[in-house]
Parts: sequence; structure tokens; C-alpha cells
Amino acid sequence: MTESHRNSSRISKAVIPAAGLGTRFLPATKATPKEMLPVVDKPAIQYVVEEAVEAGLSDILMVTGRNKRPLEDHFDRNYELEEALRRKGDAQRLGRVQESSDLATMHYVRQGDPRGLGHAVLCAAPHVGDQPFAVLLGDDLIDPRDPLLSHMVEVQEREGGSVIALMEVEPSQIGLYGCAAIESTGDDDVVRVTGLVEKPDPAEAPSNYAIIGRYVLDPAIFEILRQTKPGRGGEIQLTDALQKLAFDEKLGGPVHGVVFRGRRYDTGDRGDYLRAIVRLACEREDLGPDFRAWLRRYVTEEM
Ligand code: G1P
Repeated sequence: MTESHRNSSRISKAVIPAAGLGTRFLPATKATPKEMLPVVDKPAIQYVVEEAVEAGLSDILMVTGRNKRPLEDHFDRNYELEEALRRKGDAQRLGRVQESSDLATMHYVRQGDPRGLGHAVLCAAPHVGDQPFAVLLGDDLIDPRDPLLSHMVEVQEREGGSVIALMEVEPSQIGLYGCAAIESTGDDDVVRVTGLVEKPDPAEAPSNYAIIGRYVLDPAIFEILRQTKPGRGGEIQLTDALQKLAFDEKLGGPVHGVVFRGRRYDTGDRGDYLRAIVRLACEREDLGPDFRAWLRRYVTEEM
């Protein structure tokens, strides 16, 4: 890639699919989008938007569906609430309320028919245009202290093509994820992806490297998605389109994987969601000391 091309392709856009129904959290998600469930005192989706912004991506497109109005409201101004807090002189809470509306430039598009992750990403095509862009899945919460996306952006700017986030999982768990066949690049944290399969039978999986929900994609993915037939679960799978990119580099450059060894929570899973809350609360400066003391007592004396 030439230097000028590299500069012109500086990544600034992030796409966050958020049209899922959240059935694992019913009845909490009957009238509230799952992305709005709090992790300590912030909705899960705000951590994801903050992660994108932290990596330098401040143009955010959310791909939403029915019942997702609260998402738009959360990232918008709330003048009445702001005025009430201002009258009370509560500058601290006012700051917290304004934080989410000042974070990034937000855009929204509706997915209409929920036809899978690949289809959700395709809905972003008119907004993204022909620059590389990031995709962040709302169910995956990456601990803010373990930056992943900024490293992926660096790798994409260096290598071109597309970059996905990978994490080693127990071989028995690989059927829950997209799975990558990989080759070493000589760098422990970056691998070359030679093949991908969505939620394989563990006995047939090419590795125990699972895709976690962070991608930096070459815009060539859109044309491939348009031609991708429904796959696993009858849905248009992003993994299947990436497999085509990995198989034929001429379509849109290589696919690399950044191997993540930090803390990640699947907030779409109830157990992991609870673990994320306990862990992040324990480590918070304001809540942590009291909460840790209580938790210690609870575990040793009451369990
Ligand atoms: C999606 C992707 C899968 C990936 C996973 C990460 O699956 O299709 O490849 O491993 O996210 O969270 P989902 O969990 O939405 O079924």
C-alpha cells in the first residue's frame, strides 16, 4: 500500500449492530433494548461507544431495529433533565448526563428484517462508503483497561485488508463462535487468517481461536455480503463473507487476526453479565472499597 493511500484511508467510522431481540434477558428486555441494561451505572452500549472513541473512531453508526428508541435518546441531549440538575447545582450528575451525548457523532439506520449480522453490516454500506471501518458487537464488552481496537486499527493501517479480533477459548466452547484457521506471522499478537467457519462442530473446528466481536473491515466486504447466501441459522453471516476475503486475497486484501489476551465479558450471557458488573464495581474507585468489603463478607460468611 502506498503512503498516500494509507493516509487517505485513516479509519474514522464505527458500526455497531444493535437490532437483536435480547431474548436471553427476558423479561428485562421486553420493553427495553438489551444494549441499555446497566453495567454498574452505565448502559452496556456506552462502554462500546467509548471504546470506539478511545480508538479514534468518533463517527458511529448504530444499526437498530424496533424498540430501540431509548438508544437514540441515551446518546442525545436531555434538556429537561439537564435543566433540573443545573437548578439543583448538581454539576457532577449533570456532567455524567452530558457525557453520553457529547461522546461521538451518532447516526442510526434501521435494519428492517433481522437477517443476520452480515445483513446488519450491509445496512451500513451507504454511510461507510469506500473507507475501511470498524464493527463492534454490543454483546462483547472489552475491559477499558485492555485496549484492543486501537491495536487492530494500527494493524489494518500497516497491513491493509481486514483485521478481526481473536481469542483462544476452551476447544469445547468453539461452537459458540466464529472460528479461524491461522498461520503465524512471527508476531505473537498478530496472525494471518487462512480460513473461517461460523460456529463449527468442535470436532471439526480448525482451531480454538474464536472471533470476538471486533472487526476492522475493508469496504470490499459489502460487495461480498451482497452475494453471500444465508448460512448458519438461515442468517447472512459476516464470518462467511470474511472467509471469502481470507480465501482470495485479490478480493480485498489479507485478513489478519489480533490475538486478545485481556478481559472480555459477554454481556449477552447472564452469568458473564453478572461477572462483568461485580468485577467492574470492585475495581471502581468510588464504589469499590465498600463493595469489596461487603462481597468478601458475603462470600466467607453467608455462602
Ligand atoms: C457473532 C458472530 C460470531 C462471533 C460472535 C462474537 O455471533 O457471528 O462469529 O464469534 O458474534 O461474540 P453471535 O454471538 O451474535 O451469535
